[in-house]
Amino acid sequence: MLEDWLIEVRAAPTLEALEALRVRLLGKKGELTRKLKALKDLPPEARREEGKKLNEAKHVLEAAIKERAEELKKAAIAERLRAEAEDVTLPGLGFPAGNLHVLTQVMGELVGIFERMGYRAVLGPEVEEEFYNFDALNIPPHHPARDMHDTFWLKPAPGFEARFKRPMLLRTHTSPIQVRYMASHTPPFKIVAPGKVYRHEATDATHEAMFHQLEGLVVGDAITMADLKGALLSMARALYGPTARVNFRPSYFPFVEPGVEFEVWWENPKTGEGRWLELGGAGMVHPAVFRAVDDLREEKGLPRLYEGKTGFAFGLGVERIAMLRYQIPDIRYFFQNRLRFLEQFREEV
Ligand code: DAH
Repeated sequence: MLEDWLIEVRAAPTLEALEALRVRLLGKKGELTRKLKALKDLPPEARREEGKKLNEAKHVLEAAIKERAEELKKAAIAERLRAEAEDVTLPGLGFPAGNLHVLTQVMGELVGIFERMGYRAVLGPEVEEEFYNFDALNIPPHHPARDMHDTFWLKPAPGFEARFKRPMLLRTHTSPIQVRYMASHTPPFKIVAPGKVYRHEATDATHEAMFHQLEGLVVGDAITMADLKGALLSMARALYGPTARVNFRPSYFPFVEPGVEFEVWWENPKTGEGRWLELGGAGMVHPAVFRAVDDLREEKGLPRLYEGKTGFAFGLGVERIAMLRYQIPDIRYFFQNRLRFLEQFREEV
């Protein structure tokens, strides 16, 4: 009897089954309980002997139930640990790596092309003085060329008037960097200067109030138009391949003479069809610019350096190059900060 019960207890598959078994054997109407209650009907001799046996059986059974309960609880914990285990060797969630803005990429490529030709890349301020943006570049007040640059003029916040010794603006082109660089460096040199420029004009698919330019300036002895054309041709071939060509059309910019607009012949490698792409302005540095720079140097107590020097300059629009290359139909896409647009220019590494 006790042996059979003990086998059942040790085989109880769950805590619930064990509890049911305990009730069946030791509950108020349990099998063993009934036997204990039946003791009173036995004669005294048999009662003592049978009572002792049954009580011992009760203790053994209770101990066995307790032991089995402990076993089942441990097994349940072990099972839960197994089921909820984390595999710490699984690869983690990747941290999203961003990518350079498409204009940053194109600008970096342009700067790289010129750096490999020995140019130094420099930067200038976006908040600029009227003097560097216009006057020193041979664009005096009331010169009609200032109309080409509808300008964001700045005014000082109350209390900051002292910082505005001279009129300030958001630069309308990167050309003022020419003046700044010449005023503090000794020729010969070759520089490019990338950056943002600002125009106060209506926005449409090809115009934005802010866009990017790359300025170039080379100054030395006996620099010629041929050097300018050679530099731009090298750039065109680096950008568009060995079939690229450069064309000059006479144009006017107050800080160069002669001045040109330049276009690049680009052949579609798939169709073989070609077309001229207008990329920017260029020319030979105007003597008035060299004079303005020397005057500025003199004011600062530096020697005049630019008399008799020659040089060329060029400026081009970065958005235009990116739009042509990637067939981007609207300049406003660059600055809307939409991931759907920006993620298309993820660089493979
Ligand atoms: N600064 C001119 C513009 O924004 C572009 C330009 C023309 C730059 C001729 C030059 C140049 O350096 O030589 O319209």
